[in-house]
Amino acid sequence: MKVINPFDYKHIVFFTGAGMSAESGVPTYRGRGGIWNEYHWEEYACQEAFEKDAIKVLQFHELRRKTVLKCHPHAGHFSMADLEKRHPHVTTVTQNIDGMHQRGGSKAVIEIHGSLWRVRCVMHGVRDDFGESYKSYICSKCGSFLRPDIIWFGDTLDQEVVQKAILAIRKADVFISIGTSGVVWPAAGFPQIAKDAGALCIEINPEPSELSGIYDITIRSTASVALEKLFHESR
Ligand code: APR
Repeated sequence: MKVINPFDYKHIVFFTGAGMSAESGVPTYRGRGGIWNEYHWEEYACQEAFEKDAIKVLQFHELRRKTVLKCHPHAGHFSMADLEKRHPHVTTVTQNIDGMHQRGGSKAVIEIHGSLWRVRCVMHGVRDDFGESYKSYICSKCGSFLRPDIIWFGDTLDQEVVQKAILAIRKADVFISIGTSGVVWPAAGFPQIAKDAGALCIEINPEPSELSGIYDITIRSTASVALEKLFHESR
């Protein structure tokens, strides 16, 4: 397997998807055991569903919180966090909402699809909310339902967050994509941005993805195995 010395590169960007958390036990969205095979996103993960039945949508997200809290970061999360401690410019751009990178010790994490651990009131803004159950379904100031601070189908991404991610990606001289099917936009455009900016582009995914053609190196292995080998031997 290809081994790289991370210290040969000035700016490292990891770009992660649900496959990153798969070995922690968090289900992916697509493929075998995928969340969207079991649940119709139209009923659970869009603004229309929330407006139709907020409690059903909030209960679905509580179920996801319970699942995630039973899971733990794996060796791949720790490798990334360890590299972030030793290298001055490591950024993780993630589509994941599960907070697993932060639990693994990563600090420079840009969550482009929001977080399971925040809620939002249309009138009173965003607040943290940890734990299996939401502290409340209702905003104490105005009485409206609090919605998970997550980018659902049909939502526009937070442009400030996207710009931050793109800025980091444009600076990257190595871009390592891990466990994403590459079908959800605008995130699916990020590898091409890295490529156009001249980064060495690496894909870690046991299966080919929609974007495999873009990468200079493809590693057909799981996140934990690949990440440990990719850097371990180069120390
Ligand atoms: N290691 C690395 N990759 C893996 C592993 C593993 N152990 N297990 C599975 N994969 C790969 C799969 O082959 C697949 O390509 O992870 C990918 C998961 O793809 P998706 O389930 O589509 O997840 P993702 O790309 O993150 O989805 C994007 O879709 O529904 C939305 O908002 C949600 O952020 C999510 C977005």
